[in-house]
Amino acid sequence: MESLLIDKTHDETRQGEAFGPSLTDARTYTKSFYIESYGCQMNFADSEVVASILNKEGFGATRNIEEADLIFVNTCSIREKAEQTVRKRLTEFKKLKKRNRKLLIGVLGCMAERLKSKFLEEEKLVDIVVGPDAYRSLPALVNEAAGGQKAVNVLLSREETYADIAPVRLDSNGISAYVSIMRGCNNMCSFCVVPFTRGRERSRDDQSILDECISLFEEGYREVTLLGQNVDSYYFVPNSTNGQEPKPVTFAMLLEKVAQISPLLRIRFSTSHPKDITDEVLYTMQRYENICKYIHLPLQSGSTRILQLMNRTYTKEWYMAKVDRIKTLLPGCGLSADIIAGFCTETEEDHQDTLKVMDYSGFDYSYMFFYSERPGTLAARRYQDDVPDAIKRRRLQEIVEKQNQLSLASNQRDLGKTFTVLIEGDSKKNEREWKGRNSENKMIVFPKSNDPQQKKGTYVQVKVIECSQATFRGEIVH
Ligand code: 5AD
Ligand code: SF4
Repeated sequence: MESLLIDKTHDETRQGEAFGPSLTDARTYTKSFYIESYGCQMNFADSEVVASILNKEGFGATRNIEEADLIFVNTCSIREKAEQTVRKRLTEFKKLKKRNRKLLIGVLGCMAERLKSKFLEEEKLVDIVVGPDAYRSLPALVNEAAGGQKAVNVLLSREETYADIAPVRLDSNGISAYVSIMRGCNNMCSFCVVPFTRGRERSRDDQSILDECISLFEEGYREVTLLGQNVDSYYFVPNSTNGQEPKPVTFAMLLEKVAQISPLLRIRFSTSHPKDITDEVLYTMQRYENICKYIHLPLQSGSTRILQLMNRTYTKEWYMAKVDRIKTLLPGCGLSADIIAGFCTETEEDHQDTLKVMDYSGFDYSYMFFYSERPGTLAARRYQDDVPDAIKRRRLQEIVEKQNQLSLASNQRDLGKTFTVLIEGDSKKNEREWKGRNSENKMIVFPKSNDPQQKKGTYVQVKVIECSQATFRGEIVH
C-alpha cells in the first residue's frame, strides 16, 4: 500500500487510536465493543465498517476499555515495528481477562491475515482472528468464541468491497470522512506485504460510493477522502442494462461524479501510483475547484536501479516527468511522498539519487521509513537485507533533514498568501483558535472572529502570517 495518508498528524502509521461512539448514534446498546486501530487510513475506514456490523448485532462502541465486552485491534503489518506495537497491546489486553472472564479479544486486519491462527494456537493471545475480507462473518465468529470455540476467518475474497455497508463514523470531527473505493493491490512492490494481507485488487460499485458521499454531505460533512491502495487503477464495470454495453467507470470519471455532488464538498484521494496517475485525473482536478490540489505520490527511491528491484515499474526520470506534469497542469499543487531508506543493495550513490529527486520534486512533506524486511514478500525471498542498520538509520536521518529543509522552504513560499480554508474545529492548544486545511493539505491555525457564520464546516479566507517547518499560523481576511 502506498500510504493512505492525509490524517491530521501527518503520521502515516497512526498508533492505536481508540474509537468512541459516533456522535450521531443515539441508539442504546446492551453490549459494547472497544476498537483500536493501527496503520493506514484504510484500516481506520475498515474499523468503521466493523462498527457498523457490530452495531447491528447490538454492540455499541465505547472508549472505555474497562466496560467493553469485546476488544478488537485492527492491525498493521507494513513494518515490523507496527507488529511489535500491536503484540504488546494484545499482551496488555489479555491481562484484562483476569477480571472479566467473558471478555473476548479479537485481532483484525493485516496482521490477522498474515499470522492467521498463530495468535490462537501458539500464543493464545486472542479469541477471534479475522482477516480484512471476512468482517461480515464477525457476528458468527463472536458467537463461536463465546461458546469457547476457536474463531478464525482469514479468507481473502476477489469480490468483497463492503459496498452495501454504511460505515459508522467513529471518532469523527463531523467534517471529514474516509470513503473506501477499492480494496487490495495487484502491484507486487517487492518490499510490500499488502498484496498478501489484503489480496487482489477490486473496485467498489461507483453508485454505492456516490450514495455514501451524498449521505455524508447531507449529514454536514464537507470533505471526503477517497481511499484505495492504488486509486488510479480504480475501474468499475457496472452490470449491463437493457442489453446495452456497460460503460466502465475510471478513477477520473469517479472523481468528477463525486465533485459534482456539491461545490461545498471537498474531495481528496489517496494513494496515487506514479506509474498510473493519468493526465485525465490531473485535468479533472483542474476543472473542479473542490477537488483538492494535493497529490500523495510515493517515490520510494530516487535510484532507477533500486526502483527496479522494488518492482515499482518506473524510473527516476519517469517520476520526475510526472512531477513536472503535475506542476504544469496544477501550479501550486501540494505534493508529498513515501520514501524508503536502505532497501536491499542500496549504495551511497543510490541514496544520493533519492536526495536529488527529493530536491527536484520539492515535496511539501514526506513519510520516511527505513527498510524493514517482511516475511513472504518478493524482496524477502529474492534479495538480502544487506544494508547495515546503522547505515539505514544514517541515510534515513539525511532524508529527514532534506525533507525538513524542503518543508520549511515550501511553507516560506506560502507566507503572505491567502488560502481558502475549511474549518475542521478548535485548534488543539487554544479554543479561541480554529484549525483547518487549505486545498494543498496544509493545516493552518488562526484566531476565531466574532462572525457567527464562521463555524466548523464553513470556508474562510486565511492569510498566512507566520510559519515554521511544521506549523502555519494565519488570520482571517475578508
Ligand atoms: N519497509 C519499509 N517501509 C515500507 N513501506 C511499505 N513496506 C515497507 C517495508 N517493508 C512503506 C512504503 C509505503 C508506505 C505505506 O510504507 O513507503 O508506501
Ligand atoms: Fe502500495 Fe506497492 Fe504495497 Fe501495492 S504493493 S500497497 S502499490 S506499496
